[in-house]
Amino acid sequence: MSINYDERIPNNVGLSADRRLQRALENWQPKFLEWWNQMGPSGFQTADVYLRTATSVDAKGWATFDYLKMPDYRWGIFLAEPVADRKIEFGEHRGEPVWHEVPGEHRGVLRRLIVTQGDTEPASVEQQRHLGRTCPSLYDLRNLFQVNVEEGRHLWAMVYLLHAYFGRDGREEAEALLERRSGSADNPRILGAFNERTPDWLSFFMFTHFTDRDGKFQLASLAESGFDPLSRTCRFMLTEEAHHLFVGETGIGRIIARSCQLMKEHATDRIGDYGGIDLAIIQKYLNFHFSVSLDLFGSELSTNAASYFSTGLKGRFKESDRNDDHRLTESTYRVLRPRAGAIIESEEPALTALNESLRDAYIADCSRALVRWNKSIEDSGIDFRLTLPHRGFRRAIGEFNGVYVTPEGLRVSESEWRACEEQWLPTHAEREFIGSLMTPVVEPGKFATWIAPPPRGINHQPIKMDYVRHLPTAQYDRS
Ligand SMILES: [Fe+2]
Ligand SMILES: [Fe+2]
Repeated sequence: MSINYDERIPNNVGLSADRRLQRALENWQPKFLEWWNQMGPSGFQTADVYLRTATSVDAKGWATFDYLKMPDYRWGIFLAEPVADRKIEFGEHRGEPVWHEVPGEHRGVLRRLIVTQGDTEPASVEQQRHLGRTCPSLYDLRNLFQVNVEEGRHLWAMVYLLHAYFGRDGREEAEALLERRSGSADNPRILGAFNERTPDWLSFFMFTHFTDRDGKFQLASLAESGFDPLSRTCRFMLTEEAHHLFVGETGIGRIIARSCQLMKEHATDRIGDYGGIDLAIIQKYLNFHFSVSLDLFGSELSTNAASYFSTGLKGRFKESDRNDDHRLTESTYRVLRPRAGAIIESEEPALTALNESLRDAYIADCSRALVRWNKSIEDSGIDFRLTLPHRGFRRAIGEFNGVYVTPEGLRVSESEWRACEEQWLPTHAEREFIGSLMTPVVEPGKFATWIAPPPRGINHQPIKMDYVRHLPTAQYDRS
């Protein structure tokens, strides 16, 4: 299904056949651009960036690459191909045909799910807007901007659904998505992790690894939705999301590789003086970002999650691959709960434990990346292993909120926990140190001292290509 680029809003949904919707979105478009110019990558709107643009929604060969100024990126509406005779896979409506319009009784809930997902997209652009000034290389700068324009497109994806299917409230929600601001005191973004700062590139790679990965799991569950337009939208968003995860995982992997190299060269694990990042600091950043991202899955036990599933709005990760009744009314699920000073395993109704089961799938995915990083540390002959902290560590949502758990999973008192906090989480001094490493490197093919080059360039291009051209020189004037 090819994308029509002749229209003001590129799309593969036959937008020109619906004049009312087309006008509504064309009316939203300049407001989006105003937001992008105000809150998008600061100082780089006139640079030429080697970006990929979606040209079809096929699994293979869906993108073209070219130099583009970011405000000229063709943000549009791309849905994955419809699946003929698709049936609802789960819940009370299992086996019935999917819905092509919003079922009236679920309108409010569905709108909330779409708005909550949509809100994360512009939030991350806002969180990352100052990073361009301190890029470790042109390759990484380009990847940052690719992620940013695609998050902008993900906002378009959700706004299309709001405009097309939710009438006036949908239009109002679409406006509000451009009004909230990450970290704002009076009008913040909806979810906690999207109000945190992303002050440096170590945080950025951690964010794209851990927090964008939450996005993958939320999108995959929404891709199972009985509301077919949401399913098709999310299926295509997942293809873009995969690149964000690649940026995160390989970014951290390259930092680790560089750290190992410096440790061997200088025969020490304290490599700060040599412009490297200690593995112990990487572990602390990991602890922070993993725990913040776990909160995004919500409470372990949730009647909302149960009803999203029963009513067919939100499925499980890879719903169709599961060998059960897909209704879950009779089954249970094992959940860890803090009880009487300990952490116990508790069998809970599977329906109310759906957030926890999605979190489990997420943790398993995070563990796989961890194995790859640890393999590379082991291969360098260094005796250090990164670990994921226990799921109860530093949680602000759900059963473990207000419960003090060590990264190893031991319950301790608040004072015991606070006494060790600096061993587990980045200290102010360590954050300052990471900040001090963030001096921009913009010579093609050169990389900052703290990160190894990637094994290959973007789209089969050489690593030393000038992935971003016409940099604003003032950005790098350090006088
Ligand atoms: Fe996204
Ligand atoms: Fe993303």
